[in-house]
Amino acid sequence: MNPGAVKHFLDLDQLPAGELRALMELSKDLKSRRREVALEKPFAGKVLAMVFDQPSTRTRISFDVAMRQLGGDTIMLTGAEMQLGRGETIADTARVLSRYVDAIMIRILDHAALAELAEHATVPVINGLTRDSHPCQVMADVLTFEEHRGPITGRTVAWTGDANNVLVSWVHAAQRFDFALNVATPPELSPRPALVNWVRETGAKVSFGHAAEAAVEGADCVVTDTWVSMGDAEAERRHNLLKPYQVNGALMRRAAKDALFMHCLPAHRGEEVTDEVMDGPQSVVFDEAENRLHAQKGILAWCLEGAVA
Ligand code: CP
Ligand code: NVA
Repeated sequence: MNPGAVKHFLDLDQLPAGELRALMELSKDLKSRRREVALEKPFAGKVLAMVFDQPSTRTRISFDVAMRQLGGDTIMLTGAEMQLGRGETIADTARVLSRYVDAIMIRILDHAALAELAEHATVPVINGLTRDSHPCQVMADVLTFEEHRGPITGRTVAWTGDANNVLVSWVHAAQRFDFALNVATPPELSPRPALVNWVRETGAKVSFGHAAEAAVEGADCVVTDTWVSMGDAEAERRHNLLKPYQVNGALMRRAAKDALFMHCLPAHRGEEVTDEVMDGPQSVVFDEAENRLHAQKGILAWCLEGAVA
């Protein structure tokens, strides 16, 4: 990163491994000292604009609460309420918002729009999910894994299901945090060639296949996500293709005995995951949801550099 450059949090492959590790440790530190840090109000006078072009429960509330707990404020906006919805350009929106707020978090399907916003903003931009990636989620997930099982480096995570935005960020995380990732997707819903090439070029320990059973064999953590992401068409076709990738008791029993189960939520019980697994002893899905708050405090503090001593 250039000295003095705006610290955007756009994708895990955009940041060096050392910087991401430091950010992870910052989040853990802010979580462990949360009461003292709240009293210090390190974000006092700081305002985060949150732009949502798609629905959200966790991302919206955890960013809002993170700012409030650390003394800052938020402004919640939807694309339709802004002049963006009437044709004002992303670039001009970025320039204008930068004159008012200290950081911008945006959820928008079009990843190119996120990149354009960051290009023209003079304040940090945070990716709150696009069709292509969900980096805040996977920072919270790695944090959750490490809280339960210690360092993720050298461990094995299995992904079974759709090759969606959350998977992309898991792939980036595998390379940056140096763990193995076994991916099983239907052939028809395979990851994009650019992601497969990135894995090859970087030497990430990521394998791509089509058998859920093989992917989860002996894994330390099993992860899945919805079969139909925001913006996806052909729900019925996706359901048919993804049925064999459901995480159920039988699949979990192939993983390591103490394997964790993760899901970014919202879950569709009885589809990608059964109640038995969601509510079972290996499931840490609500810890993941909680850790969105703590992971994002770290991300915000990193973006608003100097805000937390
Ligand atoms: N996991 C996640 O991003 O949830 P929301 O869509 O509720 O924000
Ligand atoms: N893959 C899901 C994640 C939701 C948080 C989606 O994009 O809808």
